[in-house]
Amino acid sequence: MSESMAGLKRSCRCAEVSTDDIGKKVTLMGWVQKRRNLGTIIFVDLRDRSGLVQVLFDETSLDKDTFAKAYSIRNEFVLAVTGEVAKRSGDVNENLKTGEIEILAEDLRILSESETPPIPIEPGIDTKEEVRLKYRTLDLRRADIQANIMMRSRVTQLMRHFLLEDEGFLEIETPMLTKSTPEGARDYLVPSRVHPGHFYALPQSPQLFKQMLMASGYDRYMQIARCFRDEDLRADRQPEFTQLDMEMSFVTAEDVMDVTERLAAYIFKEVLGVNVTLPLPRMTWREAMDRFGSDKPDVRFGMELKDVSDIVKDCGFGVFTGAIENGGSVRAINAKGFGDMSRKQIDALVEFAKGCEAKGLAYIQLTPDGETKSSFAKFMKEEEMEALISALEGEAGDLLLFAADRDKIVFNVLGALRLELADRKGLRKPDEFAFLWVTEFPQFEWSDEEERFVAMHHPFTMPLEEDIDRLESDLGNVRAKAYDIVLNGIELGGGSERIYRSDIQERMFKALGIDEATANEKFGFLLEAFKYGVPPHAGLAIGLDRLIMLMTGADSIRDVIAFPKVKDASCLLTGAPDTVDKKQLDELGIEIKDGE
Ligand code: AMO
Ligand code: AMP
Repeated sequence: MSESMAGLKRSCRCAEVSTDDIGKKVTLMGWVQKRRNLGTIIFVDLRDRSGLVQVLFDETSLDKDTFAKAYSIRNEFVLAVTGEVAKRSGDVNENLKTGEIEILAEDLRILSESETPPIPIEPGIDTKEEVRLKYRTLDLRRADIQANIMMRSRVTQLMRHFLLEDEGFLEIETPMLTKSTPEGARDYLVPSRVHPGHFYALPQSPQLFKQMLMASGYDRYMQIARCFRDEDLRADRQPEFTQLDMEMSFVTAEDVMDVTERLAAYIFKEVLGVNVTLPLPRMTWREAMDRFGSDKPDVRFGMELKDVSDIVKDCGFGVFTGAIENGGSVRAINAKGFGDMSRKQIDALVEFAKGCEAKGLAYIQLTPDGETKSSFAKFMKEEEMEALISALEGEAGDLLLFAADRDKIVFNVLGALRLELADRKGLRKPDEFAFLWVTEFPQFEWSDEEERFVAMHHPFTMPLEEDIDRLESDLGNVRAKAYDIVLNGIELGGGSERIYRSDIQERMFKALGIDEATANEKFGFLLEAFKYGVPPHAGLAIGLDRLIMLMTGADSIRDVIAFPKVKDASCLLTGAPDTVDKKQLDELGIEIKDGE
């Protein structure tokens, strides 16, 4: 039976009561976390989003009906309790903000009853994620998830404060029902009823609209924008996710990077009390790949890559010389302190490397007791082995790991091994925040699938001035005025200076194999807008979900999104996506193929 709360007003949240309130009367409302029945006394832990407070129902001081009601309380009932704040009669609970006090209940209303919940509502309990997401409304009651969601709200509030109030940005919404945007993933399509056979695309980002807003004179735009990308999901990827999206006029990359890093420092200080030292370190894409094998390097630890191609280019080991002859390289890392691995453990590392497309992984093991073991020593001269060990500063107790292949694969393998080994040694500390900028990305990357160069960022990114003349001759070596902000090995955000000159834009389209008709068909509205005076502009978008994941130390962005989707892009709570009525399909002029 549910009672009304007529005549009652909540005085504060549960964990907002403190020792300063002792002697005061309060009315608290919340859920029952736990109930302990000691016969004449009943303790209830009452919970809301602020935390827990202990309520004491004492038979000797309560009327019979109220005590009987307290007796009927079960977990997750919703209560309104009026009572006096008192010093705890029992032991102080050091783990609880309200651990020194309790509420001596005088009145109780049961606002709502609860069936036994199918999942425990406590932090840290190992319930399977599929079950948690099916019962997400209950899961969202857990203190750890609530802390994440509340931090997210605080962070967006601070973003708005910083950008809108202090930095002169405007918050402007852009459409959800739109045309395809050029971010490179598959689009989610929405069929039009009014225009049968025509589809809107949900935006992969507000990219083109924010550039048009610059052409329209809004000069500093921001939006907390929902983006949709139909791509394979991972721990840090959702089909719909949120960006803090920004664009600025009359600026260069420097200005965007400056605002962004000051914003990051402000948020980390306000929310986590962490001091981020500015300016953030910067590294070109080339240096990031050479040193870390990744364009989003985790710089909290060393284990950097070394190019040993010069040492081995004339050696007798065909795997090494073959890779170099084919235009690749031989590179290595020193896995410090892994020299005590068993053969079986090393074999497992080789398998791990094969999982990253390597054909194999060669090693020199320097055991702690001074032995040298290697999978390729028999092909090498002694001086060559010594030169390798010395180039990698190998010492007893180290494991030197070598990859020989096309550069792309070498970087991929050693970059991944570096992270894997650091994880095993606990070198990736979640409370250490290592930001950096990666700059001068390649403008184009070769697509094996399409057998042509495609835009690495998007086709509106400005090349470096000194590389513009390579647009006709040397696409592989055109660098872009693009920058990513990286935190702890995760790409937090990215952006670029945009092309605002139609001559360069035309050359860019040509380089990408986009002919004039296609360019007009896809982006004509943007090109048209740029005909009538467009300011130089640049921008960036930060992945909000990833930012909050890193700030909270969550393992997955699913833990910082109220209603996330799972790996196959479905929502376990609502059952979306779902079939629809034939009538709805008919209105849209859509027919589902048999068997699908
Ligand atoms: P980009 O595609 O790099 O740039 O996206 C910017 C940031 O958005 C986040 N992100 C994602 N987060 C969760 N799930 C996803 N599927 C996902 N995809 C991307 C990342 C990424 O760094 N319009 C440009 C920005 C610009 O040039 O201004 C853009 O969208 O954190
Ligand atoms: P093989 O001659 O193929 O038996 O390989 C000899 C050693 O080199 C083994 O330890 C392999 O794992 C390793 N190896 C094979 N291919 C590569 C490669 N592309 N890069 C590094 N090591 C490799």
